[in-house]
Amino acid sequence: MLEGKDILNTAQFSLQELDLIINTAATFEKQVKDGAIIRNMKGQVIALLFFEPSTRTCLSFEAAANRLGARVITVVNPDSSSMAKGESLADTIRTIDGYADVIVMRHPMKGAAQIAADNAKYPFINAGDGTGQHPTQALLDLYTIRKEKGVLGGHTVTFVGDLKNGRTVHSLGYLMALYGNKMIFVSPKDLRMPEEITADLRSRGAEIEETDDLKKALSVSDIIYVTRIQKERFENPVEYEKLKGLYIINRALIDQAKKGITILHPLPRVDEISTDVDDYEGAAYFRQAHNGLYVRMALLALVTGRV
Ligand code: CP
Repeated sequence: MLEGKDILNTAQFSLQELDLIINTAATFEKQVKDGAIIRNMKGQVIALLFFEPSTRTCLSFEAAANRLGARVITVVNPDSSSMAKGESLADTIRTIDGYADVIVMRHPMKGAAQIAADNAKYPFINAGDGTGQHPTQALLDLYTIRKEKGVLGGHTVTFVGDLKNGRTVHSLGYLMALYGNKMIFVSPKDLRMPEEITADLRSRGAEIEETDDLKKALSVSDIIYVTRIQKERFENPVEYEKLKGLYIINRALIDQAKKGITILHPLPRVDEISTDVDDYEGAAYFRQAHNGLYVRMALLALVTGRV
């Protein structure tokens, strides 16, 4: 179903494909936890191109490749590739396509993933393109929601933080809509979810509320998805300083939230979740980061037909 396909954004997925990804990830999770030697991708080479900083995405893809028995080639510093000499993204991808069976790329420019996919013969995976999308993050968010809540639909999900620049919320919004969840968007006025995304989600039947009242949103939410204010996307540092710290999730706030609320965050966090929340049982953000390994194993195996 996904063999030979690119992973570019979350609007591309059917419910059947999402089921397949989640079930494949669950199988790999069990195998890894059982200590199985997995060699589905033995003999394959995966190119990891990270032209923006990353801890979780880069290392979990590398770990996933290692767990599957594949080998990895990397560019993690754009200055060390020939793009520093002026080579275009298209030419870079055309070249690397001859060295690897899958290309995984993070790039600071929205739309870079599509350019790369258009120039790659082999499957291409978007690991985050500027303020565009971060589909593999949303897939691991989905996997985490199933593990934490048991079901994927019927929840009220509050997204809080930098909804304008945060690519993870752009991606997860489409998946939450597909499963019939209600979404509440909480952000500073200048960092609201882009209108084209809310309009598109509503046209797909999503129920969306926009507010600046975090406390009220938390009182009715089953899940809160917290995001960092994306400092690197601000042209004016004064604007960033004005907006950071506007919404901080601390233990006192969570104690007044709907009972059993699950707290997700794609990480890294700066100060938007206080560390006094970390020992709350519904604080799932580090479990969420760990789930990335199994979901990325599933994606690599599925797009190469090595399941
Ligand atoms: N969530 C996420 O994309 O983290 P990294 O930037 O560390 O990859």
